[in-house]
Amino acid sequence: AHLLLLHGPNLNLLGTREPAVYGATTLEEIDRAAREQCAAAGHQLETLQSNSEAELIERIHAAGRQGVACIVFNPAAFTHTSVALRDALAAVGIPFIEVHLSNVHAREEFRRLSYFSDLARGVICGFGPKSYTLALEAALQDL
Ligand code: DQA
Repeated sequence: AHLLLLHGPNLNLLGTREPAVYGATTLEEIDRAAREQCAAAGHQLETLQSNSEAELIERIHAAGRQGVACIVFNPAAFTHTSVALRDALAAVGIPFIEVHLSNVHAREEFRRLSYFSDLARGVICGFGPKSYTLALEAALQDL
């Protein structure tokens, strides 16, 4: 099957961005491990990071046309702001897993609101880069 891993704004800076919160692993390392995890299970993973809400929306629409089986999505700050991305996921109807590196419930109050969690197949947060590994493991088992 074809899976999609999406990363929202500022995640291109992983490795140097607030390392006390987000760790030292880079996005390239996360993406490589994720692709290997899917390939080992006989599936194909595409990845995209964007700082642009519009580009993420367009990628979700394209995923609908491509028949993507599952989306693993860290919407980053858009988690707490984006009705438009929520609506895009609802429109295509592809099951998705919401992922966060940090435990968003142990941080500022505004990070406790997600526009995605109630639509998500599941939510994984707080395990650093391992959050992605756990989400992909669940996604692969769901296929
Ligand atoms: C994040 C948590 C968000 O609140 C934040 O805006 C991010 C990253 C995480 O992975 O922990 O950019 O999604």
